[in-house]
Amino acid sequence: MDISLTHGVKLKESGLDVPLLDGTTAYFNYYWLRDNCPTSFDSQTRERTFDIFHEAEAPKTAQVGIADGMLDIEWAGSGHKTRYSLAFLAQYAKGTPRHDPADLPRRAWYSDHYPTIARFSQPKLVEDKALVANWIEAMLVEGVAIVTDMPDSNEGLDALARLIGHIRPTFFGEYFDVRTHIKPTNLAYTAKALEMHTDTPAEDVAPGVQFLHCRANSVSGGANLFLDGVAVANDLKRDFPEDFALLAETEIPYYCEHDDYDMRSRQRVIELDQHGNVSGVTISQHMFDISDLPQEFLDRYYPAFCRFGRMLQSDKYLMRFRLNATECIVFDNHRIVHGRSAYSATEGDRYLRGCYTDRGEMRSTYRALTTEGRFKG
Ligand SMILES: [Fe+2]
Repeated sequence: MDISLTHGVKLKESGLDVPLLDGTTAYFNYYWLRDNCPTSFDSQTRERTFDIFHEAEAPKTAQVGIADGMLDIEWAGSGHKTRYSLAFLAQYAKGTPRHDPADLPRRAWYSDHYPTIARFSQPKLVEDKALVANWIEAMLVEGVAIVTDMPDSNEGLDALARLIGHIRPTFFGEYFDVRTHIKPTNLAYTAKALEMHTDTPAEDVAPGVQFLHCRANSVSGGANLFLDGVAVANDLKRDFPEDFALLAETEIPYYCEHDDYDMRSRQRVIELDQHGNVSGVTISQHMFDISDLPQEFLDRYYPAFCRFGRMLQSDKYLMRFRLNATECIVFDNHRIVHGRSAYSATEGDRYLRGCYTDRGEMRSTYRALTTEGRFKG
């Protein structure tokens, strides 16, 4: 119900219509206008210090006016004054999500990606924040990067991971070490192929960014296999939309169990972002629990699941390469599926040290490096 018109502002029962600078009119709710008053935020901490839960009454205006591109409100009861620029209000006029500089479109990649994979030198990253922003951008767009010139030390990996965020433990701990030392012998050492997987899907939220630092690799064979889950899932969506829908909508059980732990979670094999685009995949035959879904449903689910699993073996997607000592591959653990081909060797060392950070913290670092922030200046 319209109440009155003041300086071009139309007062309504629960809010008001404001004429914006572009000639359009936008509606704003009184609670929103009171809650987000610029005085509600502490300039030091940048946190909201006003607590609308302590207001006994619904906010009501006593006076409203517009002048020089500003909306002025005096609130009834408290007499508190609120001033907004119309340019600020325009950002919230349509109820669309706030612009996020870290919400970059993903670029799918295929088996031929290795020569063009984004590469950064660890000592240069430590020195140069602009390079860190470029590195994170590659992680957001392509999901993978190789960091070169890594110091042969635990500290070298720590320093690299901390450029993105805090080390994020899993239930295996903060770091993991994969060591093989093969003494010269006539009997070849054999190691089985490692199936294509994403790490620790049995956690509520699997770690977001994985670091694999190669400290030594003098073993012959054992190619690293990486693929872009977004590329595979997008092809499944195009060619087999019903299969895609099953994998994107159905939560399946993952587990990791032994004498003193029993991790369980339910995850969708294909993950979608807030726009409905494929953001990644969660896949691990090692950790896929005995399915407890209705058997009749499995008549449809298993064929789709296996079709997707076979696509993960395809040469169209598999990037094969050898990770060398002094290199660290960094990748989105919710997007990039990884494994290793079988190897057999008579001598050599292979040592990988790994850890994780989170994707939310990586996006936070990217925003802080590339934008001014809402309350600066
Ligand atoms: Fe892994």
